[in-house]
Amino acid sequence: MQAPVKTVFLSQVLLIVFIILHVEALKPHLLSRRSVTRSSSLHRSVFYKTFYFDQQIDHFGFLENGTFKQRYLVNDEHWHKNGGPILFYTGNEGDITWFCNNTGFMWDIAEELAAMLVFAEHRYYGESMPFGNESYSNAKYLNYLTSEQALADFAVLIKSLKKTLPGAQNSPVIAIGGSYGGMLAAWLRMKYPNVVIGSLAASAPIWQFSGMVPCGDFYKIVSQDFANSGINCSKNIRRSWTAINNVSSTAEGLQWLSQEFGLCSSLKEEDINDFKAWLQETWVNLAMVDYPYEANFLQHLPRWPIKVVCTHLRFDTDVSDKQLLHGISQAVRVYYNYTGSAVCLNVSETATESLGIRGWFYQSCTEMVMPMCTDGVQDMFEAMAWNFQAFSDECYALFGVRPREDWADTVYGGKNISSHSNIIFSNGGLDPWMSGGVTKSFSESLVAILIPDGAHHLDLRFNNEYDPPSVLLARELEVKYFKQWIKQYKSAH
Ligand SMILES: *[C@@H]1O[C@H](CO)[C@@H](O)[C@H](O)[C@H]1NC(C)=O
Ligand SMILES: *[C@@H]1O[C@H](CO)[C@@H](O)[C@H](O)[C@H]1NC(C)=O
Ligand SMILES: *[C@@H]1O[C@H](CO)[C@@H](O)[C@H](O)[C@H]1NC(C)=O
Ligand SMILES: *[C@@H]1O[C@H](CO)[C@@H](O)[C@H](O)[C@H]1NC(C)=O
Ligand SMILES: *[C@@H]1O[C@H](CO)[C@@H](O)[C@H](O)[C@H]1NC(C)=O
Ligand SMILES: *[C@@H]1O[C@H](CO)[C@@H](O)[C@H](O)[C@H]1NC(C)=O
Ligand SMILES: *[C@@H]1O[C@H](CO)[C@@H](O)[C@H](O)[C@H]1NC(C)=O
Ligand SMILES: *[C@@H]1O[C@H](CO)[C@@H](O)[C@H](O)[C@H]1NC(C)=O
Repeated sequence: MQAPVKTVFLSQVLLIVFIILHVEALKPHLLSRRSVTRSSSLHRSVFYKTFYFDQQIDHFGFLENGTFKQRYLVNDEHWHKNGGPILFYTGNEGDITWFCNNTGFMWDIAEELAAMLVFAEHRYYGESMPFGNESYSNAKYLNYLTSEQALADFAVLIKSLKKTLPGAQNSPVIAIGGSYGGMLAAWLRMKYPNVVIGSLAASAPIWQFSGMVPCGDFYKIVSQDFANSGINCSKNIRRSWTAINNVSSTAEGLQWLSQEFGLCSSLKEEDINDFKAWLQETWVNLAMVDYPYEANFLQHLPRWPIKVVCTHLRFDTDVSDKQLLHGISQAVRVYYNYTGSAVCLNVSETATESLGIRGWFYQSCTEMVMPMCTDGVQDMFEAMAWNFQAFSDECYALFGVRPREDWADTVYGGKNISSHSNIIFSNGGLDPWMSGGVTKSFSESLVAILIPDGAHHLDLRFNNEYDPPSVLLARELEVKYFKQWIKQYKSAH
């Protein structure tokens, strides 16, 4: 038997809408990871006007007094002046137009609530660059990329909109976000309750931080999704890592693997960890977007894509290494070649370029430290422990900064959020990020909604004929809470 691969200590950093990155795999691609996704033709048309707001680069110090243009999108076709609410999307780590296009829920309910829709871009993503094209060029410029600064941006923007838009003075504002955007929506309500009357935090893992939840839960959920989607599916994936080690131990085997997977460039011995990381990331992404209908979020995929993946892995769990890997190679093509347009598979690419991978990686290396681990028993991956020191060293080597492991706990309240109000935490039972989510209500105004058949923030997507009843119910409840908050606000004003 081959010695266990000397992989990285480091598990993965998850881009939170959420892509997994193995630090080791990431290094060479940090600046070059690119899209394999083309823009969606599946989402309904959305119409918005684009604006730019002069935003302070540094809200918390006075020496850096420069400003930058923060992009935001507005649709007010259904808005009732003098009282109609503002639904405010707290942008996450990527191009805001992409989140706007993928947050159909807001578009679906705008008319019923007579609401204005605003989608605000997160600093350092999309077009909202504090130092223009130099923003990522050094640690001094990156220094202002924090969730606290982003929240302050949102609060300042909301105050300004209410002040300057005719008829908005009395508009209650509700924050909505998914994933990291959902964390921001929840935190915006916690930190600036004077600015938003309530928040919907969809698939927001606000507890995926050190010491709050077990580090293995995330990958356990990924594995359950595969175990529940086809016979022998997760078992065969679990075996595939050893099969890859076996086969890749010879030059002939490496050649075979490269051909079997239709890779763009031939694997070398030193690429095997990257290759396995790419596969692992693929399974994770599938778990996030295991939607009940054909969709194009991270990739263009069929309905219930994991079921389709598993049709390629329905065989005995003792087939030969090559037979097993043949199945795996067919299975990953469901993710990378559903449209039939992939010329070859590129192990440097896993998801849409609308996401800002460099930025999220920096955030993970500073405040957003999210421990992840696997054991190969409760999950279908190779065992890998969480090692904060090693993670910190990687971060230092990459950015010249070290993460502050306990800061998120201190600044955002950790597991004790009971003093807050008017926040809805929704989570999907199929979504691995549920592992760090709030899944039990604290009070009547701090509520958890579970969507057993939902993947990553399914509730934020456009209504669809294949939506399971559980997500329809969730959306109904969410709107009910919005109306309640609006009523409370109106009776107080
Ligand atoms: C694979 O992806 C990387 C990163 O986006 C890119 O630099 C490279 O050119 C791609 N290779 C091929 C053959 O497309
Ligand atoms: C910003 O700082 C510069 C350099 O210290 C100073 O010249 C300028 O007056 C400041 N501008 C504002 C608006 O404070
Ligand atoms: C979002 O939709 C708009 C309008 O349909 C389109 O112009 C834009 O390219 C889309 N953005 C992304 C990232 O798909
Ligand atoms: C940024 O843009 C300016 C002007 O377009 C150019 O001179 C400069 O080289 C660019 N810097 C980087 C880091 O791309
Ligand atoms: C890998 O090689 C070992 C030793 O030859 C063998 O026992 C095992 O069945 C092979 N495949 C897998 C998936 O473990
Ligand atoms: C699953 O694997 C077991 C054990 O190898 C085997 O007996 C069974 O036939 C497999 N099921 C299918 C559907 O291939
Ligand atoms: C993708 O699918 C098309 C159509 O089936 C096929 O011709 C092509 O070879 C596939 N690409 C890869 C990399 O498997
Ligand atoms: C949680 O916070 C509340 C409000 O600050 C406080 O009253 C309570 O004692 C805390 N609970 C725990 C278990 O620390």
